[in-house]
Amino acid sequence: MVVPVPPRGRRFLSAKVMAPTDGPSMPELHSPEDRRAEAIGLAHAIDLDVVDSLIIPLNAPRPATLIGKGKIAELKARIDEDEITLVVVDHTLTPVQQRNLETELGAKVLDRTGLILEIFGRRAATREGRLQVELAHLSYQKSRLVRSWTHLERQRGGAGFLGGPGESQLELDRRLIQDRIDGLKKDLEKVVRTRTQNRAGRARAPFPVVAIVGYTNAGKSTLFNVLTGAAVLAQDQVFATLDPTMREIKLPNGRKVILSDTVGFISDLPTALVAAFRATLEEVVSADLILHVRDISHAETDAQALDVQSVLYDLGVDVRLADARVLDVWNKVDLFDADARAALELEAARRERRPVLVSAVSGEGLSDLLAAIDARVTGNDEELLLEIPATAGKFMHWLHENTSVLAQDGRDDGGTSVRVRVGTDRRGRLDAQLDQFGARIV
Ligand code: GTP
Repeated sequence: MVVPVPPRGRRFLSAKVMAPTDGPSMPELHSPEDRRAEAIGLAHAIDLDVVDSLIIPLNAPRPATLIGKGKIAELKARIDEDEITLVVVDHTLTPVQQRNLETELGAKVLDRTGLILEIFGRRAATREGRLQVELAHLSYQKSRLVRSWTHLERQRGGAGFLGGPGESQLELDRRLIQDRIDGLKKDLEKVVRTRTQNRAGRARAPFPVVAIVGYTNAGKSTLFNVLTGAAVLAQDQVFATLDPTMREIKLPNGRKVILSDTVGFISDLPTALVAAFRATLEEVVSADLILHVRDISHAETDAQALDVQSVLYDLGVDVRLADARVLDVWNKVDLFDADARAALELEAARRERRPVLVSAVSGEGLSDLLAAIDARVTGNDEELLLEIPATAGKFMHWLHENTSVLAQDGRDDGGTSVRVRVGTDRRGRLDAQLDQFGARIV
């Protein structure tokens, strides 16, 4: 399949654009060139064969076709020449624009939302992911039906046609879609409930959750892999990670945390998708620490960071507040030469919220990163030395499950000396068991 990609010439950011206190003071916008590269990357993500791409400056958007007659003719010639079957427009199209363009170009037309939904549909691996994508797809379709219906109404002048056959067919379609949406929402609620229960189960373990977030292709999965030694799919493709993946890791000081790899963010993430993926993204919000991984070598790294911050903001994490839960990770530093690297380090040192410089590929900076995670999540932990009688096997078991056991020595009386690190949330339960098992803090 073949795709010329005309990204828009106008440059603007999606959703809410915020100026974070700790970052560029003005949002730097995605350049048309970069948007083109990203759109091509998206097309490749669903195995499309991209034949050509062009940037169309959008000075006066046409309500009927978005782009002007001249450009349409140009595109048509190109499509006929190479027998192109699909055109991806990196812009939101109204249903009418999409239909008109398809008619005039003689090829299928996909807009940005449609393309992203397509990718998400292919990538979703869990039942929850699939339900979310289908929900987003249907919400998208429904909104388009509504809009085209309104459009028809307007064309007819509204008078005398109410209740006509066209309208009732559309109404029927809408109702069918709505029924399916209601069904999906119920299914999704069930899945989410199960997951919340799982999460509650995890919350009983003393392990803080560290969520990795970041723009698509920032290197989240690669970082997750090196930190966990796990083989999670990492490829030079957008949205390789769609469902959160979780794994337990042990920090240098012995504290265990659960590392969670999450969905990649992207500019102009369709709102229907953000809404549908809320449950997945809420995993991020409920995390004890959020690692914001950035491809710091990318020309558009600041704009990407703003996009991520904007999605986080929508979810209720305001990074401008220097939220203690966010740790900035600047990845791919191996791609810098010595001079650029020195400049980067200087820049990092100037930041109020000090970022950690790493390369998930070369491994540099990873020990600094683990230490930084350590410092954040174990800030309020206490280290205790306990003496435990030989009869308190059950208590020992509890300690292993609920605290980080740093050292353990057998004593002459058959008991054990144990050094543990305990979170404030476990401290009460630990104290309660000391008397019960005849153990004590030394
Ligand atoms: P999504 O799943 O799309 O959100 O991507 P991701 O953020 O999980 O990125 P992923 O780990 O899949 O990495 C994307 C590409 O960047 C891969 O080709 C990686 O090999 C490459 N990459 C990741 N980390 C580094 C790094 O530190 N240095 C270099 N040079 N490349 C890296």
